[in-house]
Amino acid sequence: MKFPLEKFEKIRTPFYYYDLSLLSDTLSSIKEATADLPNYHVHYAIKANANPRLLRQIASAGFGADCVSGGEIETALSSGFDASKIVFAGVGKSDWEINLGLDNNIACFNVESIPELEVINQLAAKKEKTANVAFRVNPNIDAHTHEKITTGLNENKFGIAMEDLHEAIGLACKMKNINYVGLHFHIGSQILDLDAYHALCQRVNDLQKQLESAGIKTQTINVGGGLGIDYEQPDANPIPDFQSYFGIFRKHLNLRSHQQLHFELGRSVVAQCGSLIARTLYIKKGHTKQFLIVDAGLTELIRPAMYGAVHATLNISAPKETPTEVYDVVGPICESSDVFAKAMPLPQSRRGDFIAFRSAGAYGETMASCYNCRQLPQSYFNMSNENLSPNDMDCSM
Ligand code: LLP
Repeated sequence: MKFPLEKFEKIRTPFYYYDLSLLSDTLSSIKEATADLPNYHVHYAIKANANPRLLRQIASAGFGADCVSGGEIETALSSGFDASKIVFAGVGKSDWEINLGLDNNIACFNVESIPELEVINQLAAKKEKTANVAFRVNPNIDAHTHEKITTGLNENKFGIAMEDLHEAIGLACKMKNINYVGLHFHIGSQILDLDAYHALCQRVNDLQKQLESAGIKTQTINVGGGLGIDYEQPDANPIPDFQSYFGIFRKHLNLRSHQQLHFELGRSVVAQCGSLIARTLYIKKGHTKQFLIVDAGLTELIRPAMYGAVHATLNISAPKETPTEVYDVVGPICESSDVFAKAMPLPQSRRGDFIAFRSAGAYGETMASCYNCRQLPQSYFNMSNENLSPNDMDCSM
């Protein structure tokens, strides 16, 4: 990826920089991989990045939205996502959020408990509406990912246990203002081992047989999101292997002819098109190591502090032949966990050098905070690697 440094010079750092051409190519790649699968529907997981400019592009490419809050539903609607393609998940939906979904006739509530089902039924009855619901099932599959982003194991707070599913569907079918449409799964995030999805397909196949033998008809299967990306080599692998990902479901999931298959991809859609750009403030020489102190911190990108994530870190100002040194790359926040990388080899760096933290398009800007009274980062866009345009919502250059 190229970075227009002369344009960066004029902008206050830190900021997010998005390559919208890469986003466009990524969206096309998903569409190509599903072109001959009319019953496959991809809902973009808004939580990964809710920047209005990105959302408008994703919505206009025809994707649906996966929301986990009323705020996300409002953001999705105002960015052009069609309400009939919005699914709404979350263990703790509040009444106003459920009402918002009902008022806008969203496609489906992904229900996570029986008490929640009862509340949706009551609120829908007040409006004389019928809510489509899918049950989030906890398939107890280990996605072999970070413990803080694995969700499909029995001990997680998410979903309904397989054993309790029949009872839940039975109750739903008796409720006047509920329409049972299907099953929802999500086994975790940053999944690189596609065998986990194979295991999920087998679990769904078994479950389908059980439900059918009990006379239960299911219209939709939603397999969630989770496809991982290459954090180590973002330039070598800018677009995830969507062919293989969708191929697993094509090959192993026994979808009935009347059924629709839904996906909720977040990270794999937006991660690689975004970088966090910071400037080097100081090189501080300690007794055993040296610190490269940048002006971005966990307030702009919390993934290293929260999950121990490592984002490819580049000094994009240093000339090519600069000799390498080893740095701990740290931010200015008053937390000892405000460390981007330890013992990172980088070109010898100087005050003012731009540092790019790559693969930051997913769960970067959306997880930013104002801790230490910092301002939320602004965002800038590049369509063709030449024209840098500020976010027309909140930026000016
Ligand atoms: N569907 C559900 C029900 C989810 O909980 C999630 C993510 C997704 C879809 C989208 O998953 P994706 O395709 O993006 O993996 N903040 C963490 C990731 C948390 C993921 C939460 N759920 C991180 O920075 O790694």
